[in-house]
Amino acid sequence: MINAKIIGLGGYVPEKVYDNAYMESIVDTSDEWIVRRTGVKERHISADNEYTTDMATIAGRKAIENAGLTPEDIDLIILATVTPDYFTPSCACVVQRNLGAVNAAAFDYNAACSGFVAGLIIAKQFIQTGTYKNILIVCADVLSKATDYEDRATCVLFGDAAGAAVVSASEETGIMTTDMGADGTGAMSITSLAYRNDEEEIEKRVAHRKDTVWMAGQAVMKFAVKAMADASQKVIDKAGLTWDDIALVIPHQANYRIVDSAIKRMGITEDKVFLTLEKYGNTSASCIPVAFNEAVEAGRIKKGDKVVLVGFGGGLTWGAALLEW
Ligand code: UT7
Repeated sequence: MINAKIIGLGGYVPEKVYDNAYMESIVDTSDEWIVRRTGVKERHISADNEYTTDMATIAGRKAIENAGLTPEDIDLIILATVTPDYFTPSCACVVQRNLGAVNAAAFDYNAACSGFVAGLIIAKQFIQTGTYKNILIVCADVLSKATDYEDRATCVLFGDAAGAAVVSASEETGIMTTDMGADGTGAMSITSLAYRNDEEEIEKRVAHRKDTVWMAGQAVMKFAVKAMADASQKVIDKAGLTWDDIALVIPHQANYRIVDSAIKRMGITEDKVFLTLEKYGNTSASCIPVAFNEAVEAGRIKKGDKVVLVGFGGGLTWGAALLEW
């Protein structure tokens, strides 16, 4: 069996920062509330003329360079976003053009914040069937452009970022076990509207704007804690390992309280968890690859380490992957 292994990572966050003092100046909130209830201190915000494909191209290029490959080596680009530049063309095709990845097929997919883990699972299938050798996964979102800055329950959470990984056919152990699921009964717990004319959804939004993200925060929190703990346990069980074998967990970075409750349920302590939440907030699917890249750069992950990546998000969806670095 051919293994699928991450051989390169790249991340990008825009320069502009909204700190908690700025959030205090635009909505009725406080640094104390935001830190205590979410753990977020700063979020990076794309420039007015900076969009998903711009950030995705930068992160994608970094991941390819980090892998020691060239854009021509890439056979497939898959891109996860909930804030595409266009419905068509796909962001993946724009990134393919920008990178000059002339040999790559390209498509977008949407698993919301579970996008990176879903991407690893998609890539693993193509590699293990021998279809492709080098796959670029890019997760990128300009959530700030879909945020209602009159809604204090959501605007303090979101930021913009892009993260990318090259997954390649390898003789070394890479992605070991995975788990992925969905619960469509919770579909309307996190919404961002498109063509469907849904007055009820528009009414829910503080600014009654169709183009913003809305969520039922408490319900999502409850779902997230169980989904992340269960999915992580499943990938460890499938590999016949225990938590003692795991060097690091990189969870979706949505809210510190979610992470804290989930790791208590997993029975692990925070020293096994890598967080970027304080600096970037929730950037959707890019949270995990951006944090993964920083963890490697910071020397928190060493060759041979076993790492659990676990996400949850709109859909509702969840996914986990256990890999050897
Ligand atoms: O990746 C996508 C997945 N999304 C998530 O993971 C989000 C999950 N949910 C959450 O992170 C939390 O539910 C929130 C951070 C959104 C909200 O925290 P909470 O502890 O669930 O607060 P709550 O919704 O129960 O609200 C408690 C109070 C309310 O005031 P009242 O009704 O008690 O007077 C809110 O209006 O806190 C108020 N509140 C705020 N107060 C100050 C909500 N947002 C804020 C705010 N500043 N920014």
